[in-house]
Amino acid sequence: MSPPGAAARPSAGPLHNAGISRFAEPQDTGFRRLNDSIGFDWRLSPYDVDQSIAHAAMLAAQGIISPADEAELRRGLEQVRAELTDGSFPFADGDEDIHMAIERRLTEIVGRVGGRLHTARSRNDQVATDVAMFVRAHAREAVERIGRLAGTVLEQAERHLDWPMPGYTHMQRAQPIYLSHHLLAYVWMLLRDRERFEAVVAATARMPLGAGALAGVNFDTDRRAVAAALGFSEVAANSVDAVSNRDFVLDYLGAAATCATHLSRLGAEIVLWSTEEYGFCEVSDAWASGSSIMPQKKNPDAAELLRAKAPRLVSNLVALHGVMHGLPLTYNKDMQEDKEPLFDSCDTLELCLEAATGMLDTITFRRDRLAAAAADQFLAATDIADLLVRRGVPFREAHGVVAGLVRHAIDEGKQLSELTPDELARQSPVLDDEFYALLRDGAWLETKVSEGGTSLARVREQLQQARAALRLA
Ligand code: ARG
Repeated sequence: MSPPGAAARPSAGPLHNAGISRFAEPQDTGFRRLNDSIGFDWRLSPYDVDQSIAHAAMLAAQGIISPADEAELRRGLEQVRAELTDGSFPFADGDEDIHMAIERRLTEIVGRVGGRLHTARSRNDQVATDVAMFVRAHAREAVERIGRLAGTVLEQAERHLDWPMPGYTHMQRAQPIYLSHHLLAYVWMLLRDRERFEAVVAATARMPLGAGALAGVNFDTDRRAVAAALGFSEVAANSVDAVSNRDFVLDYLGAAATCATHLSRLGAEIVLWSTEEYGFCEVSDAWASGSSIMPQKKNPDAAELLRAKAPRLVSNLVALHGVMHGLPLTYNKDMQEDKEPLFDSCDTLELCLEAATGMLDTITFRRDRLAAAAADQFLAATDIADLLVRRGVPFREAHGVVAGLVRHAIDEGKQLSELTPDELARQSPVLDDEFYALLRDGAWLETKVSEGGTSLARVREQLQQARAALRLA
């Protein structure tokens, strides 16, 4: 599908009033520019054509139109679909929105019978149905893309299973962890994102079509047949709700905002880790750019943009909440404002997921730099406190003892392992050789044996859980 081409794009002149003879005066050009949605809602066209074909088939099956008329409508709609697909669809001045454009073109192709298509249908239930189908398709796309990204991150976790690195709180080195453990945190975030998009798919299960303008229609329609043909599992039970509802758009925008927020945290970490100061990773050339003036530079632009896109998706969510809040039932033209935020969030999220997957697939981590940062002995402070706890000291007191040791070591310019037994004894009588053993070889990583912790056995267990959740196992 392609947008109305420049030549064919409606010029928004003061021509007509959609052929509606209630009006004596033409529409103002300013009104048309404000009111027309064809400039963006052309993207609903595949769903609108599918919907119309299913609707016409139902009208014929119910004896509301003749089989011959239905065949003509189908033929015309298939031609419309082909024209929309190959870009030859002639958009016309006066096409207010995609629904009017398709019906206008259909009537050009099949003649007067084209006017029968809109029997027992309003643009109010029509647009709600198109948008529900659009949301369903893009929520499924998000589920796919999130699965691919999570799979890529999981592979990186497997590749870097036992690479120590510092874990941070407040951006201060806190406790060492394995890189695999850190990366798996993103896998769980993405798994929750995927669940949210699965819930969005579920939120589109009830078909609005058949609600008419708001009260139902004056024909004995078969909504369930249309729903089945269009992949809806139910029909919306209340026609007033059906044409007023945009919850599924809000749900998509909410899921997209949260997912983009996760991607922004991933991007932010890659940006930091790519600096000379951290030196934990390097993005591949394919996902970086150079500087126009500084030849030495390799910028992690993709990661920066992942970091920056999130607020835009949040603002799309906020924008539609603004439109919908306080809006009296049922359809109001305000609701036309659902589309641009939705389309923008779909496009942005799908691109970000693809970029994150490409960048993460080709990133290189630097074991030496990660290990050097993880070897900072102050990261063992909690473990030393726990050693004192095992010797019978209450944790809060142990915390104070270790804080004293750390302060003393800093004052003396020493590593913790360089403190003498005498210096230890001054802080606590129960510190013995196990203190030194604990500081050797980063052994304290392997003491995090609690479920969900960083010891290798637990990370392996977690990898299995993540594989199963991703349906990879
Ligand atoms: N372009 C409109 C929209 O996006 C279609 C529905 C128009 N309905 C109406 N009663 N004017 O919301």
